[in-house]
Amino acid sequence: FPYTTLFRSRPLLFVLRNELDYTGAKFGCGEGQCGACTVLIDGAAHRSCVTPTGSAVGKEITTIEGLADGDKLHPVQEAFIECDAMQCGYCTTGMILSSVALLRKNPSASEAQIKQALEGNICRCGTYNRILAAVQRARQTMLSEARENHRA
Ligand code: FES
Repeated sequence: FPYTTLFRSRPLLFVLRNELDYTGAKFGCGEGQCGACTVLIDGAAHRSCVTPTGSAVGKEITTIEGLADGDKLHPVQEAFIECDAMQCGYCTTGMILSSVALLRKNPSASEAQIKQALEGNICRCGTYNRILAAVQRARQTMLSEARENHRA
């Protein structure tokens, strides 16, 4: 029974955390329901706990560890800090990556669209209002940056 078959069928979350030491993605429910394990695969948000590693081979996987540009945090990370959009922090990386996926796809996402995009990410502390504020703030920052880059 080849090891590679076992490896390919293992959840991506376990490979990221246990083999590669990228512990930013969290194990919550393990059933694709809470969003704590969210990572980006080719830019789209995925639940890594229910994603077989084999299905991600050859694709670009981004965890929270790879989101900043050197010392410069991503605008969504900055906004979460500025808006104090976390309490225990367990859901935070998943919230941030789901938000990044949304804002890259829909830079001017409305409040309703933000809520819809994040409805699969559960925050047990109930920090939703501050998370929403953070995503809206990041949206403004990213739109401003895009305008600046367009002018330059
Ligand atoms: Fe993957 Fe909950 S741990 S969705």
